[in-house]
Amino acid sequence: MKTKTSLILLAALFGANSLFAQQKKAAGTDQEMNTFINNLMAKMTIDEKIGQLNLPAVGFDVTGPILSEGVDEKIEKGLVGGVFNTFTPQAVRKLQKLAITKSRLKIPLLFGYDVVHGHKTIFTIPLGLSASWDMSLIEKSARIAAREASADGLNWTFSPMVDIARDPRWGRISEGSGEDPYLGSLIAAAMVKGYQTNSLANKDAILACVKHFALYGAAEAGRDYNTTDMSLIRMYNEYLPPYKAAVDAGSETVMVSFNDINGTPATANKWLLTDLLRNQWGFKGFVVSDYTGINELVAHGLGDLKTVSARSLDAGTDMDMVGEGFLTTLKQSLEEKKITQEVIDLACRRILESKYKLGLFADPYKYIDEKRAKTEILSKQNRLDARKIAEASMVLLKNNNQLLPLKKNAKIALIGPLADNKRDMIGNWSAAGDWKQAISVMEGLKNMAPDMNITYAKGANLVDDPAILKQINANGAEITADKKSPEELINDAVAAAKNADIAVVVLGESAIMGGEATSRTNLDLLPNQQALLKAITATGKPVVLVLMNSRPLTLSWEDANVPAILETWFSGTEAGNAIADVLVGNYNPAGKLTATFPHSVGQIPLYYNHKSTGRPYDGQSNEKFKSRYIDSSNEPLYPFGYGLSYTTFSISPIQLSSKTLTEGQGLTATVEVKNTGNFDGEEVVQLYIQDIYGTVTRPVKELKGFKKIFLKKGEAQKVTFTIDAALLKFYNTELKFINEAGDFNVFIGSNSRDVVESQFNFTK
Ligand code: NOJ
Repeated sequence: MKTKTSLILLAALFGANSLFAQQKKAAGTDQEMNTFINNLMAKMTIDEKIGQLNLPAVGFDVTGPILSEGVDEKIEKGLVGGVFNTFTPQAVRKLQKLAITKSRLKIPLLFGYDVVHGHKTIFTIPLGLSASWDMSLIEKSARIAAREASADGLNWTFSPMVDIARDPRWGRISEGSGEDPYLGSLIAAAMVKGYQTNSLANKDAILACVKHFALYGAAEAGRDYNTTDMSLIRMYNEYLPPYKAAVDAGSETVMVSFNDINGTPATANKWLLTDLLRNQWGFKGFVVSDYTGINELVAHGLGDLKTVSARSLDAGTDMDMVGEGFLTTLKQSLEEKKITQEVIDLACRRILESKYKLGLFADPYKYIDEKRAKTEILSKQNRLDARKIAEASMVLLKNNNQLLPLKKNAKIALIGPLADNKRDMIGNWSAAGDWKQAISVMEGLKNMAPDMNITYAKGANLVDDPAILKQINANGAEITADKKSPEELINDAVAAAKNADIAVVVLGESAIMGGEATSRTNLDLLPNQQALLKAITATGKPVVLVLMNSRPLTLSWEDANVPAILETWFSGTEAGNAIADVLVGNYNPAGKLTATFPHSVGQIPLYYNHKSTGRPYDGQSNEKFKSRYIDSSNEPLYPFGYGLSYTTFSISPIQLSSKTLTEGQGLTATVEVKNTGNFDGEEVVQLYIQDIYGTVTRPVKELKGFKKIFLKKGEAQKVTFTIDAALLKFYNTELKFINEAGDFNVFIGSNSRDVVESQFNFTK
């Protein structure tokens, strides 16, 4: 009798819609997935289907007001597909339980978050990470981030950000991998692999979300969210490759960009989201809008909320982040026949498929693991890896007379508002990061050598400029002026410098001056910091400038007047330890810039892989009618690919295995690289190619390969690149991906400027 009652109870619980039994099996082939989702969708009402397209924010507020209200209730009614901004096992369990126990069809939720450069163990900001040119370290950073995030209940990250950016006025240049499509594509793929692993069914795999599709980094005037108007040939050759690489690497989701693209904002751009992304590239996952991106189409001027919501869905945006335009208007649009049932079904199906691939139907709580959260998050090993990755990201911009590494017994004046600062170390978009966990430079040096002779002086406020202060403090910077006046601060620092053998001055931006909505028109060090630096250099003591910033800065004065400059970006939780390692030479820096540092804002956009003009300037002559400025050089201060080492390397002339290349037959280009200095070290040997004549104009140089090698002092090694016909392909005016016969220049060097050169002919 007892058994019978239990059976009846079980049948009432699960048998009634038999869904639970099916969910238990769900983790299989495409066919099984389709059957499962067909069955599930057959049971769904139109409201529940639209509900899957809804992504409200609960909890933390990162980019704006939390618009979502009554989320618990909506989850119970099946009107939520995923939740964004909630993490920790406890918080996630609470909401997932609502979906699983209270909603009619028990469809599990997605939990998304901005895990951009680490979850709680924070790595160097992405622009810095890219300067490592080390795909295995970059992948590792994403892997660790995914392990921590998944242990904290998350199953979806809004990363990688792969927007090509040639304009450092745009604060979000910090979130991507710089200006190069080839390197950017490799990094995009490495990040996706790191997040998703080889199977989304793994417990520590999370969905990647490549963003911001597309061309977000090409905002006019470097002003965030601004219009982009770009030829298709430029898009295909220069801006789209990293997004495509992420899609090819299997990124399960794509986030749409905020900007207008040639007259149609990306969120409602059917050509972009359907013709290109799905039909040409074969993307199979789902597309999410950016934060209120659909609602913002009203301000773009495309119509009222109902119109723009229908248009976005029809264009290919499957999920609505925070705005609830889908939730509140799609049903009516369907009734009015403004959209079809088919597009709603398709979007819903794509989102359910991603949940299925994650295995959420089989175990909606698979990500919730308090024990793992305790052992995995901010573990000793993660911190060690973060330190190593931070070191590999640093770029030595200048080092006259081998001022660095520091002599361990030197008397050091450690100066600057970022020298004993923890708060800014984790940089922007370190959403779940806790700055209190970060190590300052001062702490890093002390950790390394407690008896080091260091005197600290702040020297300046981090930010004094009233306009910038007003803006960043309104958004959470909490920067207050020091009790001492600017003059007193400088005087103290000058006194410390005078008393020391060497001054290490740590300057740059506040972390909050980078990232979203932080465009700048002036890229100099802030005036108060510059005044400090000038005062310290005037003491005549040798000065090492340690920089922390989210973007290329204009550093002409610094380059001309300061003997040693180390770019450290914002290097994360382990910043101070990593910087200390580099300063004393425990690690020999090997990072290379992935975004050009201009002399002045007036030169922007300035990037290495530009086209020639009909009147190229040789940099010397006084001829008038050349493509040049009358008040500035055309050249950057530090070119793409640039970065020094404590040692020096020589690169021999190029040896080509053949002077001709034919389709189907590669040739090799070999150089001998020698470590000619006094330290062991790494060099990133870079291969560039120029297609000299074509049916369309081609860049003066394009990165086509690189190898990062380690050489002991005095050691030499041959480095060989294989060049084949595929490497010479580009999109022509018909957007066909082709190569063309003719002569090619091949360059190999330690950066995009300092190269050795040879030539070969390609016949078809
Ligand atoms: C807006 C940003 O553009 C995007 O990068 C981010 O992922 C979302 N907000 C969510 O925070």
